[in-house]
Amino acid sequence: MKTAAEIRADFIDYFRSLDHEIVKSAPVIPADDPTLLFTNAGMNQFKPIFLDQQEPTYRRVANSQKCIRVSGKHNDLEEVGKDTYHHTFFEMLGNWSFGDYYKRAAIRYAWTLFTEIWNFPKTRLWATIYQDDAEAFECWRQETDIAPDRILRFGEKDNFWEMGETGPCGPCSEIHYYTGNEPDNQSAEFINAGNPEYIELWNLVFIQYNRDEQGQLHPLSKKHVDTGAGLERIVAALQHKKSNYDTDLFIPIIRKIEELTKVTYQTESGMPHRVISDHVRMLTFAVADGGMPANDGRGYVIRRILRRAARFGRMLNMHQPFIYLLVDTVGEILGDVYPEIIERKEHVRKVIRYEEQSFGETLDKGLEVYQRVKVELISQNKTEIPGTEVFKLYDTFGFPLDLTQLMAQEDGLTVDITGFNQKMKKQKERARAARNFKIDVDESARNWIIVSEGEDSEFVGYVQTATESVLRRYYVQDDTYYLVLDITPFYAESGGEIGDTGTISNSEFSINVSDTQKIGDTIVHSGRLLRGKISRQEKVRAEIDIRRSNAIRANHTATHLLHAALREVLGEHVHQSGSLVEAERLRFDFTHYAKVSPEELEQIEDIVNRKIRENIAVDIQYKPFDEAKESGAMALFGEKYDDIVRVIDLGDFSRELCGGKHVERTGDIGGFKIISESAVAAGIRRIEAVTGEKVFELLRRYDHFLNELTRALNTTAEQLPVKIREMSDRLKQLEKELQSQSVRDMQSELDRLLQQSIVIKDVTLFQHQYSELSMDELKQIGDLFREKVKTGVALLISTTDDKLLLVVCATDEAIKKYSFNAGQIVKQLGIILGGGGGGRPYMATAGGKNLDKIPEAIGAFEYMIKERLDV
Ligand code: ALA
Repeated sequence: MKTAAEIRADFIDYFRSLDHEIVKSAPVIPADDPTLLFTNAGMNQFKPIFLDQQEPTYRRVANSQKCIRVSGKHNDLEEVGKDTYHHTFFEMLGNWSFGDYYKRAAIRYAWTLFTEIWNFPKTRLWATIYQDDAEAFECWRQETDIAPDRILRFGEKDNFWEMGETGPCGPCSEIHYYTGNEPDNQSAEFINAGNPEYIELWNLVFIQYNRDEQGQLHPLSKKHVDTGAGLERIVAALQHKKSNYDTDLFIPIIRKIEELTKVTYQTESGMPHRVISDHVRMLTFAVADGGMPANDGRGYVIRRILRRAARFGRMLNMHQPFIYLLVDTVGEILGDVYPEIIERKEHVRKVIRYEEQSFGETLDKGLEVYQRVKVELISQNKTEIPGTEVFKLYDTFGFPLDLTQLMAQEDGLTVDITGFNQKMKKQKERARAARNFKIDVDESARNWIIVSEGEDSEFVGYVQTATESVLRRYYVQDDTYYLVLDITPFYAESGGEIGDTGTISNSEFSINVSDTQKIGDTIVHSGRLLRGKISRQEKVRAEIDIRRSNAIRANHTATHLLHAALREVLGEHVHQSGSLVEAERLRFDFTHYAKVSPEELEQIEDIVNRKIRENIAVDIQYKPFDEAKESGAMALFGEKYDDIVRVIDLGDFSRELCGGKHVERTGDIGGFKIISESAVAAGIRRIEAVTGEKVFELLRRYDHFLNELTRALNTTAEQLPVKIREMSDRLKQLEKELQSQSVRDMQSELDRLLQQSIVIKDVTLFQHQYSELSMDELKQIGDLFREKVKTGVALLISTTDDKLLLVVCATDEAIKKYSFNAGQIVKQLGIILGGGGGGRPYMATAGGKNLDKIPEAIGAFEYMIKERLDV
């Protein structure tokens, strides 16, 4: 039986022998296709060739491509684990012709490989073609010896393949395979009908159109071939397995899951094993190619998959992170072909583990909530989980919608998706309102007073700090003035950069602008009136606070340097997830799975400061979005950009799309110091830093601080650590001495008290009441008693205002000779004293609150001793 590796190699060798260039698999995270979250087919990387945007280097290529199908047009998630042949991650074997061979050769090649190299029985193979594709029918008839009644015609749904809503597409022809046990009883009606015994193995697409955004098809200048065969299914068929999970591509992962969970895999009950083994492959490849769990877009898909896997882990009783432990096994199976999963193994393990850990904290609680909701529904004879509950699971416990849906489905319930979506929408609106506009007033509530007519809000502040402007309109609310000008040097808060402050004035009035915000495209300045009164005079002078604005500029450019330095030191998985640029400091949130170590922080600081000293000219250009992306500019994920974007270059160190204000040369930043590093959310870290003057202020503050310390401790800065260590050692020593002193005190006190104890037969009966001793101290006295007295029993009580503690102890001789049991005695006393207790025969403890019952307890103690001694 051939191994999966041999089967993959067969395919590659076969097409190599047919003059195909073997190309590398593209990453699963597409570098520059915004229409695609994950690479979902082998042809993705060749899209520009099909669309005539790029000349092919080779006319014939082949490869084995890593694919993920969990979103968009091609989404197999629903099926994963329920059946045995759909996956979130799979390998697609493919061969391509770019304007070279077409249907005839493509069909011949496929048939030859299938029947002569892999020896699939022809009597189990079926071919499908697009209903109108007479040419394909002819090719099957002439190029192969397939029985004519095994060539079937289907419509667009099954035999017209499209990459997505738009893009290259064309009719296709597929090869299906009957896996069942009754080859004589095959029937054409089961093809493309969701029957697990009739499996699609290979799709040959004849690319000849491009579908545009309006849904129109446009013929391409050339005709191409794009094929894709699912390796996992072919391996299962060739290894005579009914399930992909029973092949050598999955068995080692399933075995590892069994080993970790101690739950044996069985096809019937094995959905959790299947889901986890499928998902860990997807996670490994997605993270190795630079994906990170996050709250939106691609990152959220990764997070959803991981959370689903974690929840299936709970079904196998796994409450601790364990999925990350499977990453090694995935590497053992596929690392030879895709070395990146070995090279980035540690990173992948860490990311998965961290995410498992943080979801684990809410997963159990969420499952409880789900159970409660379920029981309630069932008791009310209802079957739909209300949107509010689904949203609560999502928002508070991190349950992705599809996870809740899946659990509901398992329990025969449904989910109120409309209700959930409404909640989501409301939350988003709230977030947007909070984010976008501090001057949060209903538009209709603004009573604008029009001063002049014309265009407004042209921003000229990239180069100007003051303008002679015309006041267009204003309104006053709660003593705050809101003004709109024709042109303005004031930057309105956006992209994390805070708005400018300054003054707007003329001979009649002056307003101290304390904030600038945008409402739609309008730039609104707000602040208090300093003098005068706004009249009809429309000419004003608008002047920003230059010093503050320069500090903001410095912090913004420094943010770009920091972003690039973080990626250099920590890795390419670092992406901005939020930022705040103020005059005082900058704050930068980014994706990263672990604490940034002090050494790494120093390295980052060093790089940024080096770039500042290099005094790099800040180059700003406007470019079409595509061109900017192609040149490697970092765009923020999920951010919408205009067609023309502003590109900020800092030499070749950093290139970002950004609308903010920057310094002219990096040297203007003057210096950079990180002041804190912390966690914001799972997988998101935050760095705060200062620049320029603030660095020196900080230094000075540290200086003062240090001076005070050295003065107070009467030493030098260099000696400070030694001095402090000495002091703390001394403190510890003193504590120890104090303790042994108190033991000595207790000892001599005990000696004294023992003289008053009574002796019955040969048993010393000791009891004493202390005040304010801890349980530990009581026990120490008990130990002393046991050392000093040969045969004896002691009752030691310590009282505070409203509580009491007690210890009963018996010496070894007393236990041996008279079978005293401190544990039993303490229990009785505990009842009298209104508390509980217990312990061993030689020493037992109790607490209580009935201080007035102490005499009674002492009486009972003596009585119990005497009783045992028969006196
Ligand atoms: N691109 C084709 C598919 O994904 C081969 O099925």
